[in-house]
Amino acid sequence: MTLTGDEQAMLEGREGRARQKAMELLVRYAEALGAERFVDTTNVAGVPGSVTPFLQRYYRDRGASYETIFSLFDLDSDEVVEVPRMTTHACHLQGGVDPENWQTLGAKPEMLEAIRASERSAADRDIRILKTCTPYLAGNVPSRGEHCAWMESSAVVYCNSVLGARTNTEGRESTSAAMLTGKIPDWGLHRDENRLGSHRIEVEVDVQSVMDWGMLGYFVGEIVQERIPVLTGRLGRPDLVRYKHFGAAAASSGGVELYHLVGITPEAPTCEAAFGSTRPVETLKYGEAERRRTYDALNANGKDSHVDYVMLGCPHASLEQLREISAWLEGKRISAHCHLWVFTSRAVRARADQEGCTRIIRDAGGHLLTDTCSAIGQAIPPGTKVAALDSAKQVHYLPAMMGIEAWFGSTRECIDAALTGRWNGTPP
Ligand code: F3S
Repeated sequence: MTLTGDEQAMLEGREGRARQKAMELLVRYAEALGAERFVDTTNVAGVPGSVTPFLQRYYRDRGASYETIFSLFDLDSDEVVEVPRMTTHACHLQGGVDPENWQTLGAKPEMLEAIRASERSAADRDIRILKTCTPYLAGNVPSRGEHCAWMESSAVVYCNSVLGARTNTEGRESTSAAMLTGKIPDWGLHRDENRLGSHRIEVEVDVQSVMDWGMLGYFVGEIVQERIPVLTGRLGRPDLVRYKHFGAAAASSGGVELYHLVGITPEAPTCEAAFGSTRPVETLKYGEAERRRTYDALNANGKDSHVDYVMLGCPHASLEQLREISAWLEGKRISAHCHLWVFTSRAVRARADQEGCTRIIRDAGGHLLTDTCSAIGQAIPPGTKVAALDSAKQVHYLPAMMGIEAWFGSTRECIDAALTGRWNGTPP
């Protein structure tokens, strides 16, 4: 690899032991990828030094302190080093438990205390504690072309496709090292030639609602897996929520990190621009039959029409979504046989508190929760057998993780299920 002067200085330890360990890890990582140099990154999103029950047990004999976990686990160091303030703009993504509603989520007090201590240690090192999978809804909006290093597949695909910023799907280790050094391998989606489309998808049915966009994303991800789809046809103009559901679904059924919507997303003003000099490896259509197959696949796991849990907010709900949910719930009461949990970020929750959305959801018998979600926190109401979900991503993960049935439908259908305790969803 070719290293610049500042990179060499870090590698030789002239910027301290932590940056040396971080640079050693990044060089090993870059060499494994075949990268020849680093790019400077100005925006890193990860879970630096974050404590989990497993890590707490694993490092118990070493004290399981913030520096222990950061050094031995994140930096793969064989010694505990002093972790200084971060070099570059750094934020903390979703965590394990809502600190205000931890009892609802069934968390143990000792775990809550460990998470709080870890969070304080991160904040002391200039890491912004956003605790969300939607950092772009909580004040972290990178600019077009900006080199980022982000974890969280739904955030990565939004960052690349909607904002036109550049990141690969990084891991905990590489993001923690990038926060300390401001460097990430110049590889994959940081490079122009790797951002061109591979598959052309002709959309032959109207794609308008959030549910439509989620199903289309799920279909596309399954088809292209980790490559780059270019979509044309009967696409309505997506808003932030539709982008969020489309990308999260495509990143779950496949591993889509970047997509192009012709005439809509920033790197695809035309089909020619989206493909550059390459030709599509395949052209596929998304019509009535494909839409119905996707709907059936997402509902394959739903059998019992009695619903005892409704989860909304995957990816974390925007303020607009919370306004809509609370408008539907105002003056109503959730079925005594059903639970409603809605997940969002702390930043959006603060605004929802001010606007009265939180109170309306609570008065109806639901909970507005932050920091985590049922899949990440592996938390569902006790006794849950059947869930209703409006997120294709959550349908992809939650039933398998928690051994429950799940229905997929629109947010409105999920709210109806919460109010009646029964699933009455229908195909679009
Ligand atoms: Fe976020 Fe959980 Fe979905 S962390 S993207 S709400 S699986």
